[in-house]
Amino acid sequence: MTKYKFTSNTKNDSTRRQFIKNVGFGVVAGGMAGPLLQNAQSEATTQKVKSRVLGKTGLKVSEIGIGGHSWAYKQVPDGKGDFRRPTVEEAMQMIGDAMDKGVNFLDSCTPLVESSTPGEALKRLGVRDKVLVSIRVSHKMKGIKTDQQEIYKWTEERLKLWQTDYVDFCLLCNTDNDTPQSGYWDMSYSIEALDKLKEQGKIRFTGFGCHFTPELFLEAFDKFGDYFDTCSIPYNIRHRAAEMVLPAAKKKNLGVITIKPFARGALLKDRDLTGAYAGLPRDMIAFVLENKLVDICTCGVHTLEQTRENLSASWTKLNPKARDRLKDVAGTRITDREYAWLEQDWCHA
Ligand SMILES: NC(=O)c1ccc[n+]([C@@H]2O[C@H](COP(=O)([O-])OP(=O)(O)OC[C@H]3O[C@@H](n4cnc5c(N)ncnc54)[C@H](OP(=O)(O)O)[C@@H]3O)[C@@H](O)[C@H]2O)c1
Repeated sequence: MTKYKFTSNTKNDSTRRQFIKNVGFGVVAGGMAGPLLQNAQSEATTQKVKSRVLGKTGLKVSEIGIGGHSWAYKQVPDGKGDFRRPTVEEAMQMIGDAMDKGVNFLDSCTPLVESSTPGEALKRLGVRDKVLVSIRVSHKMKGIKTDQQEIYKWTEERLKLWQTDYVDFCLLCNTDNDTPQSGYWDMSYSIEALDKLKEQGKIRFTGFGCHFTPELFLEAFDKFGDYFDTCSIPYNIRHRAAEMVLPAAKKKNLGVITIKPFARGALLKDRDLTGAYAGLPRDMIAFVLENKLVDICTCGVHTLEQTRENLSASWTKLNPKARDRLKDVAGTRITDREYAWLEQDWCHA
């Protein structure tokens, strides 16, 4: 039985200054979470997720982050042959357990599929100021000043959903229609908007990423790498184009947050994860973490079991058998249209 410390409100007195004292800037990831969550039922392991420094932010972050789409997607069997979203109580268990193991990075997702679940879970756990919250907001790159409104609007919505007055990272993402590929390439107004949000104390650090090609990522680092603090790039055993761009990101000292360790589950589909492929998700994250140019690998999780397995990647060393299985996954073509961009631009295999 989980015995979390339930609180009805976030600490109202948690100012940004207090927060900065508590999280990051030298505090080992998760070091503050243990005492708060000491009653939380945790897997019987003393292992902790290791931390890395997130580029020019100087923050110590857990090398694995959780969150995002999973809170919004109905993927948990409801026992009646259908699926449901994770409940707030389940989110509290996942987040609490992850924090106990040292996780201090919670990701958000593309604007249209956000959920209020993680914010409510943080409030009830009373730990908002012990984690780094990263939101993603849409932006256009068309050089039109009114496009800034989009960034303000999404940020305000995210602040409400996360029940907080500031977030740690605001990452710009774009739809397929608003990419440099579609002929537009002007981030100046977006940057102005981010500066204003920083001035207002609503965001601390910035980043960008999403539907870029590797070539455009390189160009973006050149043009905007001095301004942004982080970048967000897909990276998994099959889609490895990140390896072509990570050295350039590091040259600009950008914090590297990778996404899609499982291509949103597509690479796990139709594999027997309790038999021949047991431990595969853990190994897929361990593969990403072997790359020392990666600072955080974020993964979507729906259950406590998935959370625990994925976090164990931090203390997993890949053996030859695991590497053979990974080779097999690397050779798997994903046919779903949703992943066409990954298969075209991000595939080395
Ligand atoms: N994709 C984007 O464009 C995008 C944009 C913004 C943010 N992000 C963020 O990036 C992070 C990663 O998400 P992603 O889209 O890249 O997905 P991902 O992490 O590659 O895949 C997540 C899915 O894999 C399955 N899974 C995870 N751990 C598992 C385990 N141990 N065993 C079996 N299945 C497991 C789960 O699906 P089931 O439970 O259904 O099996 C889960 O929803 C998230 O925080 C997400 O919000 C992604």
